[in-house]
Amino acid sequence: MKKTINIGLAGYGTVGRGVVSILLSKNEELSRRAGAKLRLKRICDKSFADTTKGKTSPRQSPPQDKNIKGLLPAGRVYTPDIEDIFSDPEIDIFVELLGGYQPAKRLMLLALDKGMDVVTANKNVLAKDFNELLSAAAKNKRRIYFEASAGAGIPVIAAINEGLCANEIYALTGIVNGTTNYILSNMSEGKADFADSLKKAQKLGFAEADPTLDITGGDSASKLAILSSLIFKSHIKPSDIHVEGIEQVKPFDIELGRELGYTIKLVALMEKVKPEAGTALAKSGAAFQVAPVFIKSSHPLASVSGAFNAVYLKTDAAGDQMFYGPGAGSLPAASAVASDIVYSARHIMEKSSLHMPFFELKNKPPRIADAREVESCFYLRFTAEDKPGVLARIADVLADHGISVASVVQKDGFSHKAVPIVVLTHEARTGNLINAVNEIDKLKMVKSKTVYYRLLDI
Ligand code: HSE
Repeated sequence: MKKTINIGLAGYGTVGRGVVSILLSKNEELSRRAGAKLRLKRICDKSFADTTKGKTSPRQSPPQDKNIKGLLPAGRVYTPDIEDIFSDPEIDIFVELLGGYQPAKRLMLLALDKGMDVVTANKNVLAKDFNELLSAAAKNKRRIYFEASAGAGIPVIAAINEGLCANEIYALTGIVNGTTNYILSNMSEGKADFADSLKKAQKLGFAEADPTLDITGGDSASKLAILSSLIFKSHIKPSDIHVEGIEQVKPFDIELGRELGYTIKLVALMEKVKPEAGTALAKSGAAFQVAPVFIKSSHPLASVSGAFNAVYLKTDAAGDQMFYGPGAGSLPAASAVASDIVYSARHIMEKSSLHMPFFELKNKPPRIADAREVESCFYLRFTAEDKPGVLARIADVLADHGISVASVVQKDGFSHKAVPIVVLTHEARTGNLINAVNEIDKLKMVKSKTVYYRLLDI
């Protein structure tokens, strides 16, 4: 009977440091839960190379880190050479915390081939190549765990796979990017502008190495792809998701929305789409989008601020569920990785291959609905001349496209030539709304591009 589970960890960055700190400081309790001593046998990071005097070799002393001082394992644990993990037949679990796409993907596949379980926080690789990794794990009778890949410290993947396995999850609304939520929260509270908030998020370690992935919605899309794949048990790819970021969000609209009782959030959405009677779309499907939207300020998701994340699920048996917590940062992500390590170790000890977490992506994929099929109420902000007939003309075009107005507010002008007119609509097909806006933007009396956001009814 095995008494020790050996871990090889690659990537000593923000998350890696947290994992090492948790595995060392809570080793006794985690080992007890795992049913075997959890031993960090190798920790690999390029930064452990001694490149002084032109040579590349392992440093003689491990990194100085106040979180692990006094807890450092003995022996040659810290290495700059990934081969030290793969050439070691004792390693049971490969913990991939390199981030990015390659070499992380290649190393995970190699680890599975070598008979190791894999624990990863890598949303990029999973979102793109979920099937390939799961197939490689199945072929090698190993498992891959990825709780930290979406929502970091929030155990939402375990909830979808296990706690809610008796449910149909028919809608997901997630605030799954801490950086953009932090920026929008700061802008909403008038605390800081876009650029300053982004700098602060980078300093706090939330932002991606390339923060455009946060800002443009790409990071949220990867997380939505992972969560949706688990919900549908079929690989939903980033390319199935309609993605908009927060680059265009203006403080003016945030403020107007706030006055009207709404809070702006960048959300990741999965929603089932109703068939449209009498059309070629008379087939249900699901739409996947990442976009800034207005949420009623009284909804619990509206109060998820700063770098916090939340995932709101609508389920058939368990009703509405909201998972909330820190979605980024060293220890929250490490908490998820550590729990995956315990799961993996337990399964290795039990020699079980069919235990939960049990995920297969073998279902027939849903019909991927176009974002234009989605029905929603909308916030529209026109910028138009302030003269008789303007509002009537705009209302006419909206009516021509079957869009019903719920309320109208005209604000003071930006200049004497143009005034902002805010229209809230009743429910309309997104495609109809876009067509109407395109037509309205061509009117001579309309002075700049119309801004529109969904008013999300969750
Ligand atoms: N860049 C991500 C965020 C980190 O801001 O949420 C966690 O995945």
